[in-house]
Amino acid sequence: MDKVDKYVGKVKEVFSRAPNKHAAHESSWELLEEISYDSGFLTDALRRHLRLPGVLNRRHYPVVAIPVVSHPSFTMVLNCWIPQPDSNTNLSTKAIHHHGALLLTTTNIFGIGYEHWIFTKPELADPDARLFTLRLDGHRLHGPHQAAFVDSQIPHLPFYPSELTITLALWSNSLPTSWKDYVKKAPIFRGREEQLRRIAVPLGLAKALDIKVVQDFDFFPVPEGFKPMRERREFPLGPNRDYLYSLFHVIQGTGNESLTSIIEEQLRDTVDDRVTVDMLLGALKSGTPIYPRLSEGHTNQPHANFTKQQLQQSLTM
Ligand SMILES: [Fe+2]
Repeated sequence: MDKVDKYVGKVKEVFSRAPNKHAAHESSWELLEEISYDSGFLTDALRRHLRLPGVLNRRHYPVVAIPVVSHPSFTMVLNCWIPQPDSNTNLSTKAIHHHGALLLTTTNIFGIGYEHWIFTKPELADPDARLFTLRLDGHRLHGPHQAAFVDSQIPHLPFYPSELTITLALWSNSLPTSWKDYVKKAPIFRGREEQLRRIAVPLGLAKALDIKVVQDFDFFPVPEGFKPMRERREFPLGPNRDYLYSLFHVIQGTGNESLTSIIEEQLRDTVDDRVTVDMLLGALKSGTPIYPRLSEGHTNQPHANFTKQQLQQSLTM
């Protein structure tokens, strides 16, 4: 049996039995730890991902995401955290952010891990200047096989890892699953979540459908404290070539060269950069090391990339 089906089935059971979403996350810990010791899960998730149409034509985001399942009660995604070329870990991977009403359990299933900082809820310190106070609630290495829970509205921050690290993120709303969740996961909207958001938000349906509108979810340090981002500013997407290097690094780095034949099936369809794909396929077959890439604009955004020292200076002790 495919390991994705096996474990997703178990998570579904946990969520159907649990009295609420917090309890479901807590009851999933043991299962997520079990997944972290079963490399077959990653292999099967990668196999499914590599069969998706156009998977080799995507542009590059600094974290390579491999969606696993989207269920009305929960979502699971594998996040592949790409290191910086010099393995420097003293840089944040994004802005300090929370996920609104969503609950997150993240489990390190591959690699050395990254430093993960968790903060207290932001307090508005100066309404005129829109300045917030944040306190550090804790920081630790999100190390191998470790799970971490991030509650709703709680700001957190992952730093760059020194080497490829893959986490399995289990997401759910903190509220009970309702008809709205089934509407959002209906086949007509599947893969069109962004379109649904664009239609629903201007019509004032975001609240009715419980669609996440990201406002003041992100913060960055300034000398006087922390500034919110009214609307989330995402990283610019890098070129497809960088994405291919990172994706193939994930395949090689996790010992999944046996999936080469699945990638070759993609060559029957249009592949934008056939030259790079052929070269990387050759490297997979010959065992030549493939190094991941970050793109221009992925490590130099003042609102998203800052050092631990910059953060410390803005924190309220
Ligand atoms: Fe997050």
